[in-house]
Amino acid sequence: IQAEKGGYKHFMLKEIWEQPRAIRDTTLGRFSLDSGKVYLGEMDIDDEELAAASSINIAACGTSWHAGMAGKYMIERLARLPVDVDYASEYRYRNPIPDRNALGLLITQSGETADTLAAQREMKNLGSKTVAICNVVGAMVAREAHGAIYTHAGPEIGVASTKAFTSQLTALFLLALKLGQLRGRLDKEKSVALMEELSRTPAKIEEVLRISSPQCEQLAKDFSNARDFLYLGRGIHFPIALEGALKLKEISYIHAEGYPAGEMKHGPNALIDETLPVVVLASRDESDPASKLRYEKTLSNIQEVTARSGRVIAIATEGDTTIGQLVEHVIHIPATIELLSPLLEIVPLQLLAYYIAVRRGCDVDQPRNLAKSVTVE
Ligand code: AGP
Repeated sequence: IQAEKGGYKHFMLKEIWEQPRAIRDTTLGRFSLDSGKVYLGEMDIDDEELAAASSINIAACGTSWHAGMAGKYMIERLARLPVDVDYASEYRYRNPIPDRNALGLLITQSGETADTLAAQREMKNLGSKTVAICNVVGAMVAREAHGAIYTHAGPEIGVASTKAFTSQLTALFLLALKLGQLRGRLDKEKSVALMEELSRTPAKIEEVLRISSPQCEQLAKDFSNARDFLYLGRGIHFPIALEGALKLKEISYIHAEGYPAGEMKHGPNALIDETLPVVVLASRDESDPASKLRYEKTLSNIQEVTARSGRVIAIATEGDTTIGQLVEHVIHIPATIELLSPLLEIVPLQLLAYYIAVRRGCDVDQPRNLAKSVTVE
């Protein structure tokens, strides 16, 4: 077992560090910078059918559901195609409205999650074709689907999903690119620019790992005794707040919540006091007006927290000197386009959860009460 961990103390830490490789493998052969084309993989659905989809229904559980939420922002932004995201465990019971032209999209690392498979069955019964984003080749979900986009993260052993998540985000970005092209929203020049940024992402994650790892280890010393944590983000950063909170919950047993930053004043502000660590996702893409606006709003949310003595840990973009003056702790990540920023932002949140759990003496790879894949409904 020690050898399988490749010198790391836990599988989870090994898998966190494998992310640059996992993303490279997931993108390998999937796009061409010369032609600007995207190749998704084994698809029984042709391009015309994909182009004609009226909407996308995503169903998934846990971390894969968070990837789906981020995917919604990617697809809606690049392809202007409406996307619904359901918890797979809820999908069947909400009496979904049949639409044969809606495409079902299942996201699952294992490909064997019972609720996700049940949602897929329901989608098929309603007349939809389904596509699976899956990490395990030949898994049930892929066999049942009309198309499979495999993530090539490699086996994930730690119960807390890390590299599978960033690989799912990568696959979703590729799917959004493809749909954007098919729907005439992305020309070759734009597509190639997005692909180039995607291919720079693994190296940027390497930088985040190198820089934020000692920072997170240090932060864990200060915060491992906290009773609760709050994670805040806006737009595509909100699902990353949810995912950061889930990582902390499942491996350190600290109660944590992810919230859309703008919702704080509608209730959760009442929780803030000097004992509450608040992790805020506050990166920005200077070239994107929507991202800049979101950033400005997030800054005012930070001020609301600090005014009530909450202890902020901000994730911000390199070169941002404003934020450091407002908060106690800042972790900087390289600049990128907003749609790819989740791939960088989640890394320090994974590391923070990891180091806190280790300090608390928790069983990081096999947290209590949890199984790697949930094959019962
Ligand atoms: C994530 O850290 C979890 N352990 C869990 O939420 C997981 O993502 C969920 O059970 C879904 O699994 P799947 O991707 O294999 O379907």
